Amino acid sequence: MADFAQELFARTLAEPYRTKVVEKLRLPDRGEREELLRQAFYSPAYLNASDVYVDLATDSGSGAMSDQQWAGLMRGDEAYVRSRSFLAFEKAVQEVMGFSHVIPTHQGRAAENIVMELLLKPGNIVLSNTHFDTTKAHVEHRQATALDLVGDWLWNFAEPLPFKGNFDLEKLKLALELHHENVPLIIITVLNNFACSSPVSMENIRGVRALADRYRIPVFFDACRFAENAYFIKTRESGYASKSIQEIVHEMLSYGDGCWMSAKKDAIVNVGGFIATRDEGFARRCQEKLVLYEGFYTYGGLARRDLEAIAVGMREGIEEDYLAHRTGLVAYLGEAMESAGVVVSKPIGGSGVFVDVASLYPHLTPDKMPGIALFSDLYLEGGVRAGAAPFPMKTISIETRQIEERMFQFARFAVPRRVYSKAHMEFVAQVMARVKLIAKDNRGYRVTEHPPVLGHFFSKFEPL
Ligand code: F0G
Repeated sequence: MADFAQELFARTLAEPYRTKVVEKLRLPDRGEREELLRQAFYSPAYLNASDVYVDLATDSGSGAMSDQQWAGLMRGDEAYVRSRSFLAFEKAVQEVMGFSHVIPTHQGRAAENIVMELLLKPGNIVLSNTHFDTTKAHVEHRQATALDLVGDWLWNFAEPLPFKGNFDLEKLKLALELHHENVPLIIITVLNNFACSSPVSMENIRGVRALADRYRIPVFFDACRFAENAYFIKTRESGYASKSIQEIVHEMLSYGDGCWMSAKKDAIVNVGGFIATRDEGFARRCQEKLVLYEGFYTYGGLARRDLEAIAVGMREGIEEDYLAHRTGLVAYLGEAMESAGVVVSKPIGGSGVFVDVASLYPHLTPDKMPGIALFSDLYLEGGVRAGAAPFPMKTISIETRQIEERMFQFARFAVPRRVYSKAHMEFVAQVMARVKLIAKDNRGYRVTEHPPVLGHFFSKFEPL
């Protein structure tokens, strides 16, 4: 029988939780916002969080922990060796991800550092649908090249492909045919963060595994948004509608030799990460590096209470009502922006809404910093922070069979988990509607300082 209440619950995006603690927010007035933006050198990296009303800079480590996770912090067993909290964490990751060996790290990039050190040699080529910037930085730190093999469909914001995060299997085939002797690792990033947070289909994952097997190349998942990816497989891919998220996660990860995860995303904690694998020898080598860089194999750079919070969060992160609400809220924001005429990547992905910056500021050439123009307009008009950057990718061209550089420019409105309400999303969408109206008056920005190292974080700007 149709259940009125369940249908209403899904349709209204009523939260599957209620509020126990609140954190006051401040919306500085227009004059203050102008001054604060000037003091922050018109850069998202220098603006204080306490001066931002809705902060969509990242969904990483910015989520709200549940009462059960906070209780977990109190339960934390701070023993160095094989504490109760480590065992709870190990068991939760084993059960949810289906890998037998689990190595804790303080966050995702610490796991990347260890995996890349063990698997890569100078001159190697690593293949992924899209490397996140820290992943790419760790590949390049080992003097290897990171190739992003997501399909050209990514550049078409309006094309509503359900799995835009997929590998272009023709590109993968070509890259392997030309370079397989030099490829130590294939990385499947789920969701594909810099590809508009779009999911990867099970069919595509199977295709990647089959090609990797042909050349006996290990496949690892960058799994930080694994649960959101599984939810989209359930709701968008035929054959999965009646499967549980847990079953889908197990099938998905069964095609990998291992994974690493920044727990700051789908495990809804403020810090933490891990490597997981079924290869005992590889796990041991990871533990050796862990002791060198992070800490003993039973805590990996974290307090044991943090492991306890991850253990709870791994299970909360795959609850279907939570995932339906989370992805529904992100879609609500994207659709509201679209109604205001803003071009967003379709269909809306998992962790946030991705906006086509060039279509908002068609009069600003890349040297006039349209991404900074959007960041500044958003803050000036609404006290909202989002990130916008040109994202350079190396890929392989089917036509020329050569490695080529491509730029993907977007603004990301990343929604923290369990933090903001539907009214906050409405607020952001209306700010964007106003930004769209006034964008034509923005004359662009120039760089006043660009340090040689990590310039994309530490640059300073001023309006033209
Ligand atoms: N892989 C992906 C796909 C990520 O999105 C991130 C972090 C990492 C690895 C690194 O994890 O931050 O725990 O060291 N993404 C954040 C973001 C920073 O804003 O998307 P970390």
